[in-house]
Amino acid sequence: MASIDTLTLPLDQTSAADLAASGLEYARVDADGEGFRPFQRAVARGFLGAESTDDEAENARTTLRTRRLTAVYDRQGVEPEVPVGTIDSWASELTTSPGRTTPLWSISAVTVAATHRRRGIARAMIGGELRTAAAAGFAIAGLTVTEATIYGRWGFSPAAWASDVEVDTGRARWTGPTAPGRLDFVPREAVVDRLRAVHERVRVQRPGSVPGWDGRWRGVAGLTPGDKSGEKVRAVAYRTAEGDETGILVYVIDERDDFSAHDLEVRAIFAVDGEASAALWRFALEHDLVGRVKAWLQPSTPPVQWMVSDRRAVTATLTDHHWLRILDVPGALGSRRYAAGLDVILRVADPLGFAEGTWSLRIGADGEAQVSPSIDRPVDIDLTVGALSSLLLGGVRSAELALSGLVRGEARTLASLDRAFVPEATPLLDIWY
Ligand SMILES: CC(C)(COP(=O)(O)OP(=O)(O)OC[C@H]1O[C@@H](n2cnc3c(N)ncnc32)[C@H](O)[C@@H]1OP(=O)(O)O)[C@@H](O)C(=O)NCCC(=O)NCCS
Repeated sequence: MASIDTLTLPLDQTSAADLAASGLEYARVDADGEGFRPFQRAVARGFLGAESTDDEAENARTTLRTRRLTAVYDRQGVEPEVPVGTIDSWASELTTSPGRTTPLWSISAVTVAATHRRRGIARAMIGGELRTAAAAGFAIAGLTVTEATIYGRWGFSPAAWASDVEVDTGRARWTGPTAPGRLDFVPREAVVDRLRAVHERVRVQRPGSVPGWDGRWRGVAGLTPGDKSGEKVRAVAYRTAEGDETGILVYVIDERDDFSAHDLEVRAIFAVDGEASAALWRFALEHDLVGRVKAWLQPSTPPVQWMVSDRRAVTATLTDHHWLRILDVPGALGSRRYAAGLDVILRVADPLGFAEGTWSLRIGADGEAQVSPSIDRPVDIDLTVGALSSLLLGGVRSAELALSGLVRGEARTLASLDRAFVPEATPLLDIWY
């Protein structure tokens, strides 16, 4: 698929008509126009944030200029220019197998004013995004969620999980490898370029990952206006003996009453390989005057637990993190490599219609899938579009989903599907979007 400028795609007329029937207006917002600041206010209020300052709004504008902003207005309101619904989206990339990516319709900033909740505004906005994405040829849409209760009804389902990790440094004596390269503090102003460079190398190797963007990296580096901890941000880069910069750790120290046992809070730890990962984790765990290291969005089974003498010094709380929604079955299933051959007929139930149908999935000895509509062979596996979206990257087994009734098929057919879908690396999304 050629790269698409999502800003030029038309507004979905089904949602426009549905909202108009309730006296509401559905409209695109120009990040450089008058509607931007009210849009920003509505998003901040929707996520329970403070009113943004001019500096904060300008900072957000640099990111949102590249995104498709859509709003819902109630022109009868006291502030008719402030939307009662907001959403933004952009063309991103999803890593499906190491070294392989596919276009992803990414969605964010979904808010509805508390005064207008549960009237179908989110339903209209999400439906509008999915129809626009499908019409533009995107096979997959994705988002990260505040609540797990919202998006399943529109066919989204978790496809990559992440752990919040805490390490008790008093218990966790380092037993991992000694990295041969060197660590250096780097100034905050130099962090954005470094995060971008290392993360670009990391994310293309990890199914479930997407690219970051400079606004995200400025936030991590503490350079965003209004970041109260910004001045406390420190960053350390790892370079191999050959001089290749393969890892970066960005963190703040959160002071506790016990002066010898502060918290080291990791804002980002990106490592191209095990060598850089070991160097940066060891730095964090052995930091003087630190009693606890906290890191978010880590692999579900965090590698650090294999590198300390007491693995129970590491606690990992697993959460669903990357929610995907298949819009086009051949496109989505054809976007990754598989671990084994397969020849099955899938029947996918999709109340919104995008993925609905009976599909022949043939995976050859080369690990490549051929998917086409099937009309004449008996169905082997019945499943919902959400279940198929969860299975896509291999982060969960169909045999597990079968226990909940989301997938139906004979045990040995499910086992062969699971053999084919085993991922080359456990799916992970290491940022919020
Ligand atoms: C989540 C939110 C966008 C929903 O907006 P909304 O306009 O009230 O949603 P809708 O009226 O379109 O609801 C559509 C359906 O989803 C359900 N729903 C909406 N929000 C839900 C929630 N938080 N939990 C469970 N169900 C929810 C509705 O009950 C309705 O179900 P039904 O079709 O069975 O009747 C809104 O509550 C909000 O802005 N929340 C705070 C910000 C936030 O969390 N945004 C999500 C970012 S990932």
